[in-house]
Amino acid sequence: MNTTYTKTAKSLHWLMAALIVGLLALGMIMTELPLSPEKLTLYSWHKWAGVTVFILVWFRLAWRITHRPPPLPDTLSPRMQLVAHAGHAALYLLMIIIPITGWLMSSAKGFQTVWFGILPIPDLVSRDRDLGELLQQSHKLLNFGLILLLAGHIAAALWHHFVLRDDTLRRIR
Ligand code: HEM
Repeated sequence: MNTTYTKTAKSLHWLMAALIVGLLALGMIMTELPLSPEKLTLYSWHKWAGVTVFILVWFRLAWRITHRPPPLPDTLSPRMQLVAHAGHAALYLLMIIIPITGWLMSSAKGFQTVWFGILPIPDLVSRDRDLGELLQQSHKLLNFGLILLLAGHIAAALWHHFVLRDDTLRRIR
């Protein structure tokens, strides 16, 4: 039985964690700025990093399906194991849905995403002001949910490390 994650799983975990925390901060900062060339540059960076997360999450899911992760500690009750699995599933879901809402929002608002200024991402919806507003609100709300989930995820990791003193955090390092 595996007792730790593979190097690939660890790398993807921390790379995506850094990208997502950066995206959350950048998203909240850029939307508050007055219109300027700098604001537009930050929007582009945000969109490029967001599309990168969207690409990486499929690699991560493929790796997860083909490489069984170590089991949760058996000190966790079946109910807590269920909560942990549901939390992880919700994180995967948000790592897919949030970039999609961002991508579609940009299209609906009439700003096509061009990944790193090189690769145009197709506009799956045409320009539509109301749809753009709806997707913007959805993007914001889903991000709020992501922040709550991440807070729970980090609190659980720290609880395992410092209170239960098991190897849950060490094995993903
Ligand atoms: C996991 C990936 C992503 C995260 C965590 C994320 C996070 C955020 C956050 C926190 C905001 C600020 C919301 C607000 O307070 O109004 C935001 C705004 C925005 N995001 Fe994302 N985002 C992601 C992916 C994307 C992608 C892939 C795109 C487009 C291709 C995108 C486009 C935008 C745009 C255009 C805004 C500004 C909306 C406005 O003007 O109010 N995002 N994002």
